[in-house]
Amino acid sequence: MEMIQRPRRLRGNPLLRKMVRETRVDQSSLVYPMFITEGENIKEEIRTMPGQYRYSTDRMGEKFSELLQAGVSSVMLFGIPAHKDEMGSGAYAHDGIIQRALQKAKKEFPELYLITDLCMCEYTSHGHCGILYKEDVDNDKTLEYLARAAVSQVQAGADMVAPSDMMDGRVAAIRAALDREGFTSVPVMSYAVKYASSFYGPFRDAADSAPAFGDRKTYQMDYHNSREALKEAQMDADEGADIVMVKPAMAYGDLIQKVHQMLHIPVAAYSVSGEYSMIKAAAAAGFIDEEKAVTEAAVCAYRSGAGIYISYFAKELAEYMKEGKLG
Ligand code: PBG
Repeated sequence: MEMIQRPRRLRGNPLLRKMVRETRVDQSSLVYPMFITEGENIKEEIRTMPGQYRYSTDRMGEKFSELLQAGVSSVMLFGIPAHKDEMGSGAYAHDGIIQRALQKAKKEFPELYLITDLCMCEYTSHGHCGILYKEDVDNDKTLEYLARAAVSQVQAGADMVAPSDMMDGRVAAIRAALDREGFTSVPVMSYAVKYASSFYGPFRDAADSAPAFGDRKTYQMDYHNSREALKEAQMDADEGADIVMVKPAMAYGDLIQKVHQMLHIPVAAYSVSGEYSMIKAAAAAGFIDEEKAVTEAAVCAYRSGAGIYISYFAKELAEYMKEGKLG
């Protein structure tokens, strides 16, 4: 048959398939999210996330070494305090769990790049991402606390802060507070496009941060919307965000792509706890191949436009990359 276009021509040979790949990935784009808890000698498995652990500060180095060995040099740290209160005071305490973790990590692992999740929900007794006024989160009051927490985390050694609270105006408030303290060169990666998602379920077990009443729909976005995502991303960029994030990743490739097209700053995608746990559970049941599913999900996020991929599979992905299993 006479045919000019034969797309299969470029698929016939594995070397050629690799040569014409449109998406190529690199270990330096990976970020590993990690939970640090109070106490000593703790490495406890998270029930809803098999293979993921909460570490006390004296044992977190075990994981840091594993990550560095595999080729992952960026971590995003979440602190889990022993005591939570109304004002989330653990988020900005000088001797808070995250501050102590940062100090120790900075000293013992100077080759690591330390990012902090900046939010109140791990530290508040009610589990909401801000300071409450009656039953609602008080946006403007919360900004003061986030700014304080940002400064305290950077003072303790954070290389970058990543606000995940979804309050309006937080990037500007955080940027101003950091600049005031002389931290003009510390970047802000904002969770700009963060949806109210059931895929965060396992994380809330990990961080013990499920809201005690209500839900997060008054601040996180409605997944029926995408134009609103562009508004959020644009606002954060205008307020000085250096990197914007889309979260979750797997069902949100359209948003990764749109944000990537609209803004000329790096876009991160966060493959969240539910994405991790679904793959783990399905693989454990023998329903899917874990390695292939993890690889595919990651490549698809990069293909959509993510330049940074935050994943609980970061170490595995780094190893697969080393073995040439991704583009
Ligand atoms: C804190 C925060 C959450 C996640 C990242 N930062 C929880 C939430 O918003 O409910 C979710 C991460 C994950 O599911 O892996 N606000």
